[in-house]
Amino acid sequence: MLDKVMAMLAALLGWIDKRFPLTKVWNEHLAKYYAPKNFNFWYFFGSLALLILVLQIVTGVWLTMNYKPDAVKAFDSVEFVMRDVEWGWLMRYLHSTGASAFFVVIYLHMFRGLLYGSFKKPRELVWIFGMLIYICLMAEAFMGYLLPWGQMSYWGAQVIISLFSAIPYFGDDLTLWIRGDYVISDVTLNRFFAFHVIAIPLVLVMLVFLHIVALHQVGSNNPDGVEIKETKDKDGIPLDGIPFHPYYTVKDIVGVIVFLIVFSVVLFYAPGFNGLFLEHANFIPADPLKTPEHIAPVWYFTPFYAILRAIPDKLGGVIAMGGAILIVFALPWLDRSPVKSVRYRGGLFRRALVVFVISFFVLSYLGTQPATPTATIFARIFTACYFGFFLLMPFYSSRDNDKTVPKRVTPSTTLEEDLAKANSFLKTTLDQTTTRKAITTKAGKTYNVFVPEREGLLAFLKETVIKIRKVFAVK
Ligand code: HEM
Repeated sequence: MLDKVMAMLAALLGWIDKRFPLTKVWNEHLAKYYAPKNFNFWYFFGSLALLILVLQIVTGVWLTMNYKPDAVKAFDSVEFVMRDVEWGWLMRYLHSTGASAFFVVIYLHMFRGLLYGSFKKPRELVWIFGMLIYICLMAEAFMGYLLPWGQMSYWGAQVIISLFSAIPYFGDDLTLWIRGDYVISDVTLNRFFAFHVIAIPLVLVMLVFLHIVALHQVGSNNPDGVEIKETKDKDGIPLDGIPFHPYYTVKDIVGVIVFLIVFSVVLFYAPGFNGLFLEHANFIPADPLKTPEHIAPVWYFTPFYAILRAIPDKLGGVIAMGGAILIVFALPWLDRSPVKSVRYRGGLFRRALVVFVISFFVLSYLGTQPATPTATIFARIFTACYFGFFLLMPFYSSRDNDKTVPKRVTPSTTLEEDLAKANSFLKTTLDQTTTRKAITTKAGKTYNVFVPEREGLLAFLKETVIKIRKVFAVK
């Protein structure tokens, strides 16, 4: 019976393969895509970004079934989803918390690129597509935020759209064109809805496809920044590569499970994250006659908002804010070091990276706070640090005392050696924690089973705790 089913499936696959390159695509991008074997924690975030993209699209479709893009009904329709639609609250929180999770994951994904020089030759296009995705994501989040038609939706959009009026000559006309009205109104809501629900998601999905095609053309980078394609065996397979499937599909599932646990905790216990993911003012319906006391964008925009406010002139602020995003596109050409990974970079780059990260966090915080004179001084200092990281990069990256990069990824063991190590670990652990016992069933069959052994289990737990304490240096 099973043989028959397998034969039928094989025939079906053959039929498909003659008409569509299913096996070819599977092999090229999964089963025979050789990824460096030293991927670490930082390499979880690409697949997690994919997962959240799907989550946002699916929950978005369900929300759209009950949401009304109408200035009179929008706010109430969201309340209806939250209170009356079955599982509506879950769809809405999955989507709103999902948006913040998306940015957390994307920022970590981008930071990995900085750490390991993944933007450098030959991955410039992977980086450019990534940056285009990032800009689309910002537009998607910005337009989505107007839809619940709360006070912060309305006034946040008002502030951001009016920025365009700072552009000389056609700024005012451009602002009018974007809004479709003299103020933010039902017309604006309708067009933002159209962009948020269909136009931008389509572009996003297309860009993600291009991002991955570009990556698979050149191959993945890794924490050592070594090109694994340069050392191949006689069959042309990279010595330090392992097939993406099953090795990394399985590894990524572990990442997905851990992510889902953390995500669920936030989702079920703090979906608004104390006003950070869903701002308090957005639980009040939009009122064009009442400006909220303090307008701040959602956390993922605040570094750029802080940069905008740091510059005393409106046009200057808009240029600085746009420049802060656009300059990241130029990274592959600003970095002049021959070394990719931070592991082998000199002290100048390492220090610059630390300053950059601190600036990003401080600016993020300042963007959530009122622009007092002291806050503005700090915002100016850290804006200078932010730009300094990029603009001074050609100088410090070419003069750094980089270390010698190894020829192969570290540790350079073979796949067989890695498997033997894992096998021996499993065997010793099993020997230590269980005893083998022969069990005979009523039918007279004898099986060898592993029976847990109390003393061994306790000893194993104790050793594990000691190892963990060592890793975290707990005294
Ligand atoms: C929807 C958003 C995105 C998705 C779904 C996505 C997906 C992926 C996936 C699946 C990978 C391969 C696995 C991995 O290396 O983690 C990857 C690699 C990469 N991504 Fe993204 N990405 C997104 C956004 C971005 C952004 C915004 C950037 C940077 C501006 C970026 C830069 C990169 C780079 C440089 C690599 C190659 C990393 C390496 O080989 O070391 N990605 N991306």
